[in-house]
Amino acid sequence: MICLGIEGTAEKTGVGIVDNEGKILAMAGNPLIPEKGGIHPREAAEHHSYWIPKLIKEVINDSGIKLNEIDLISFSRGPGLGPALRTVATASRALALSLNIPIIGVNHCVSHVEIGKLDTGAIDPVTLYVSGGNSQIIAYESGKYRIFGETLDIAIGNCLDHFARECGLSHPGGPIIEKLARKGNYIDLPYSVKGMDFSFSGLFSAAIRGFKAGLSIEDICFSLQETAFSSLVEVCERTLSHTNKTEIMLCGGVAANSRLREMLAIMAQEHYSEFFIPKISLCGDNGAMIAWMGILTSKYFSADTIENTNVIQKYR
Ligand code: KG4
Repeated sequence: MICLGIEGTAEKTGVGIVDNEGKILAMAGNPLIPEKGGIHPREAAEHHSYWIPKLIKEVINDSGIKLNEIDLISFSRGPGLGPALRTVATASRALALSLNIPIIGVNHCVSHVEIGKLDTGAIDPVTLYVSGGNSQIIAYESGKYRIFGETLDIAIGNCLDHFARECGLSHPGGPIIEKLARKGNYIDLPYSVKGMDFSFSGLFSAAIRGFKAGLSIEDICFSLQETAFSSLVEVCERTLSHTNKTEIMLCGGVAANSRLREMLAIMAQEHYSEFFIPKISLCGDNGAMIAWMGILTSKYFSADTIENTNVIQKYR
């Protein structure tokens, strides 16, 4: 079976083609970079409607397979921005109808976990999924994927990007903050873990106040990272204890951050757990993860052969 997947929950359009065995035959993507301000849902939708047809052509060319060899269309059903999701769903339906093949809507966050498992060989990890729009700790427990902890307000990537914008730095802010943080020292900023959840809006406001009061931008960046990342690592650690799992995986765009990687690696080592990070092209939003999730979901729903049962076991 060959599946073409379309991603577009936020500002990034992604299309990928994956086969039954998890081989990524092609993937292509294009992010919307706003000239100023944040991502506007309408602009994200317009971006997707412009790029989806072009990216489909690109992956078909790159994969070397013909459009009529595609067996299944998969699309990111959510969570995401309403207008962006509608555009992706409409484009996917149009393609499936024109090819007369089935279509599956899949969960964006679980797709991140599954492509990470495929790429790294992790079997049953506690996953820290951190991006511009999501910050969640996810693990498979008692028959389904469950969110063990999440942000109570803004996502970590959003916190970093918005802080950067307010300070006149360019988008995306995460990599710039990482660079500035290397020259910074610690200053006290509010730390917020509530039970199994965390919150970044108070931290964001305090960082902005510090910047306006003339504190060094390097010190704020360093402390912003240390404080926010510590709360993520703390909840991951709690999830490990609750679930008794021995694998930790990091994914999402913020997984590019070397300090977050370092902090999680230390925690994993202290708990005798293995630490996995998918390759960076598969960490951020991409079409291949949606295609692979489509394959897994289709097998889950038609589990009548030994081969399929094996995949389901891997899927679980
Ligand atoms: O998963 P992703 O590619 O897409 C969206 O969620 O839209 O994540 C993008 C996020 C942005 O917030 C960006 O600032 C952040 O990932 N990011 C980083 C780094 N590289 C990208 N954050 C911290 N450090 C980095 N090196």
